Amino acid sequence: MNIRLICCAALIRLEMLYSIELALSHARTLEAVSDTPQLDCQLLLAHLLQTRREWLLAHGEHPLAQHEQASFTRLINRRRIGESVAGIIGRKEFWKRSFKVSAATLIPRPATELLVDTLLSRFSQEPLRLVDLGTGAGNIVISLAAERPAWQLFGLEKSLSSLEIARENGKEFAQIAWLAGSWCASLAPESMDIVVSNPPYVRSGDSQTFRRLAFEPAMALKAGVSGLDAIRIIVSQGFDCLKPAGHILIEHGNDQQEEVCQLLQQAGFSEIETFRDLQNINRAVMAIK
Ligand SMILES: C[S@@+](CC[C@H](N)C(=O)[O-])C[C@H]1O[C@@H](n2cnc3c(N)ncnc32)[C@H](O)[C@@H]1O
Repeated sequence: MNIRLICCAALIRLEMLYSIELALSHARTLEAVSDTPQLDCQLLLAHLLQTRREWLLAHGEHPLAQHEQASFTRLINRRRIGESVAGIIGRKEFWKRSFKVSAATLIPRPATELLVDTLLSRFSQEPLRLVDLGTGAGNIVISLAAERPAWQLFGLEKSLSSLEIARENGKEFAQIAWLAGSWCASLAPESMDIVVSNPPYVRSGDSQTFRRLAFEPAMALKAGVSGLDAIRIIVSQGFDCLKPAGHILIEHGNDQQEEVCQLLQQAGFSEIETFRDLQNINRAVMAIK
């Protein structure tokens, strides 16, 4: 056998040896950045091969082609420097659906499902008008639309690229109007029954959080020195755009509940109610005009 044939055979053999099982062993290299390195690794490989995690686990011997190995290494390297799996694959599950996300949108968080859960448990099918301020990928307002067809909904966002993603995610819901704007500035007085928002609430000096969330848009996070700049505006403008007896529901940071309650009280809201998320952390406040 000539030497070239031997080398070729060896290369083919090497390629054959790079199996799904071997690729998934890269999970070890993600331990420093992730609490779920194995899951992350499986999701990235499943995304690359356009298959399901279950299929990967049942086909550990399956070989990866050389171009697949190279692409997988690139995905793993992105995760290794801290980009989230959702950011890399461009999708995130929230409530009961999968949402397209991009570098312009905040990646929806499980804690924010508290807002959806609270509204669905308090308000039934009767028609009402609700605005979601800072809609991001549209995850809150779209989740509500899917469960409450009679509601008239507005997804409002300042970032036009984010609004574009939200519109695409919600294209099957004619009951949602997508509005570009800054908080309630463009909304008519006393036009809404409910104002809901997961606004930016990270303090500008919280460099540790900004480092951890370096791949997320600053506009979705930054809220001045106190972390309350956006909430302060939403509380005051929200009061004006709510109908009498309308409700406001706001997500906030771990240690901001007391201050948010004070802001609501000062603005004239009453019946202030506080909520904890699934991790038992203070996470949202609701009040009535
Ligand atoms: C924390 S993110 C929430 C995204 C989404 N609603 C969610 O819960 O996953 C805050 C959102 O507010 C938007 N935003 C920031 N400033 C705004 C403003 N002045 N008016 C409207 N939206 C704004 C950001 O672009 C971002 O999409």
